[in-house]
Amino acid sequence: MLKRAVRHHHAGQLTDAEDYYRQVLAIDQNHFDSLHLLGVVAQQSGRGDLAVRLIGRAIALNERNPANNNKIAADLDALGRGKNSVGRHDLAVAYSNLSIALMALGNSTEALKAIQRSIRLEETENTKLLFVQSVRGLSSLPEGIDLRDNLARALSEPWGRPIELARFAANLIKRDGITGACINRFIIACEGGRREYGIIDDAELTQICRDRLLLCLLESTIVFDVDLERYLAAVRNTMLQAASANIDSQQFDKDLLRLFCALAQQCFNNEYTFGCTIKEKELAERLRQLLTNALQSEESIPELWLVAVAAYFPLASLPAANLLLQRRWSHSVAQLLASLVRDPEQERKLQSSIPRLTDIAESVSLAVKQQYEENPYPRWVTASPVGTPMAIDAYLRQQFPNVDLQTLPTSNRPDILIAGCGTGQHSIETARRIKGARVLAIDLSLTSLCYAKRRTQELGIKNMEYGQADVLQLQAIGRTFDIIEASGVLHHLADPLAGWRVLLSILRPGGFMRLGLYSRLARQELTAARTFISQRGFRPSAAEIRRCRQELMGCGYDTPLARVTEWADFFSISTCRDLLFHVQEHQMTLSEIGSFLSENQLRFLGFVLPLGVLQNFGRRFPSGNTTDLALWHTFEMENPSIFVEMYEFWIQKQHGKPQ
Ligand SMILES: C[S@@+](CC[C@H](N)C(=O)[O-])C[C@H]1O[C@@H](n2cnc3c(N)ncnc32)[C@H](O)[C@@H]1O
Repeated sequence: MLKRAVRHHHAGQLTDAEDYYRQVLAIDQNHFDSLHLLGVVAQQSGRGDLAVRLIGRAIALNERNPANNNKIAADLDALGRGKNSVGRHDLAVAYSNLSIALMALGNSTEALKAIQRSIRLEETENTKLLFVQSVRGLSSLPEGIDLRDNLARALSEPWGRPIELARFAANLIKRDGITGACINRFIIACEGGRREYGIIDDAELTQICRDRLLLCLLESTIVFDVDLERYLAAVRNTMLQAASANIDSQQFDKDLLRLFCALAQQCFNNEYTFGCTIKEKELAERLRQLLTNALQSEESIPELWLVAVAAYFPLASLPAANLLLQRRWSHSVAQLLASLVRDPEQERKLQSSIPRLTDIAESVSLAVKQQYEENPYPRWVTASPVGTPMAIDAYLRQQFPNVDLQTLPTSNRPDILIAGCGTGQHSIETARRIKGARVLAIDLSLTSLCYAKRRTQELGIKNMEYGQADVLQLQAIGRTFDIIEASGVLHHLADPLAGWRVLLSILRPGGFMRLGLYSRLARQELTAARTFISQRGFRPSAAEIRRCRQELMGCGYDTPLARVTEWADFFSISTCRDLLFHVQEHQMTLSEIGSFLSENQLRFLGFVLPLGVLQNFGRRFPSGNTTDLALWHTFEMENPSIFVEMYEFWIQKQHGKPQ
């Protein structure tokens, strides 16, 4: 019976599967597998409450009476699974499924507890992805769950995009433990005017340097938090003072040096956004000169000098920086040098390997190119896992289960174009996620392309090629594609709809397109900061962006100007330039997007949004269709920040109808 139930379940015949599971339960009401899998059926057919009850009961029975496992073992043996894998594994899967059901109900805290249990029983790529999803679903820090270890691993291994965990990690660091207490004392002292960019005492440094979560956050992504940024700026100043006082690096224990290296890595990641006083800057410049002299005259270099300089300036810009790679260093410093000197050098060497595919002559394209040559967007450190590769049809069905997709004839080997790939984070994920994918990734900016190509080579990805090109000229390359993705790109063209039409003209009939476009409503919040910038005459150079950030951070927490510090893009030079200083930015409305879709007979498949937002939409419009843009317009008016990232959505071109 169970075998039959599972067969129907795998074939997606949920009603039949449910019948058979219930028949097993009629014989044995505590049957673990049937309770658990019936819960999964309930979850898959939209009955979340029932799913939680059933899976929860299966787990509770099992935990109360592990002897039930023997019975499960017998059933599972009948299904051909080994005795030894029964029990722990099945319980882990049940906890994962409970976590999915709880997430779908919007209960992220309980979902997180369930997934932590699952991870304790058995770690898999899936449980790690679910951990990241449930953390992202939280609207506040949960009480009574110890997350630090898993969060540190999720950032450093990583289990998802570190950037998506960054704000949460910063909040946790500030709330808990010794580091939290130190930061809070520091902030109170700053607010009382007693210290600014001050010095952190040795005892405090010795305590925080053992905070693994802090180290992982600094190394893997960017700190999106004003308080933590200020505190780290003070730690950096402390390191500089120690280095300049010629304190022998030997006096620094390994942990402290590791903290300083992590901080230098953070400064490189955020392109040196931290504020500093004029005196501090002069001291850093003096130390840089000492370092350069020692390097050129082949004298010994204290590690602390090197790390302190690396926290203020890009090491790769030092004369003869590559000589640093020929010396012997401790492990932490060698790793820092690999990231700050070896990688940029590698990227420079790749420049001649990327072909120019089209002309780049249009004036806006040239201005935009210049911006992203100077500030490639975004700087990312580690690639996120994407799960088992899936055919594009299966992937989109999973994303949009209620949409009746037309199948793509070439779905086993789709040709994919990533238009405006930037530094490659998104395009690399696509190349790894879509089964059989052959990817061409293009961008205006050669610096961004080199960054992307280096990461692609490091990850051993073979199904990607890169080219320098302007979206507006792509017809000239004489190729067509099954899938085209352009996220955060078209709104930087002089005429976004003209660029969109070019992309449609090279999308094959039945092909899919993923777009990301700015929402006018969501970006209204930036108006105050932009007015401030133009009134104060800040220009888009790194130095002025740095100054401007400090002024904005100095505005009271409750002023409209300070709202800008809630945007993740505020926290590095390239992303802040993108956010507030762009040479060309258009914003769209849902009705403009809707009109374009109907003029071009395109099917809207759905938005890429966090689960929580989709659940709220479902609660607001219980019988509404998730492809109805008019409903989404109403929803956005009621919740103006839901598209703060962008309108990110999938569409499909009609079969057999040339556009
Ligand atoms: C904000 S970044 C987004 C990068 C990437 N899509 C992502 O999501 O991380 C915008 C990118 O679009 C590229 N871009 C802008 N206009 C373009 C054009 N006309 N042709 C090709 N690339 C363009 C820029 O060079 C830049 O790298």
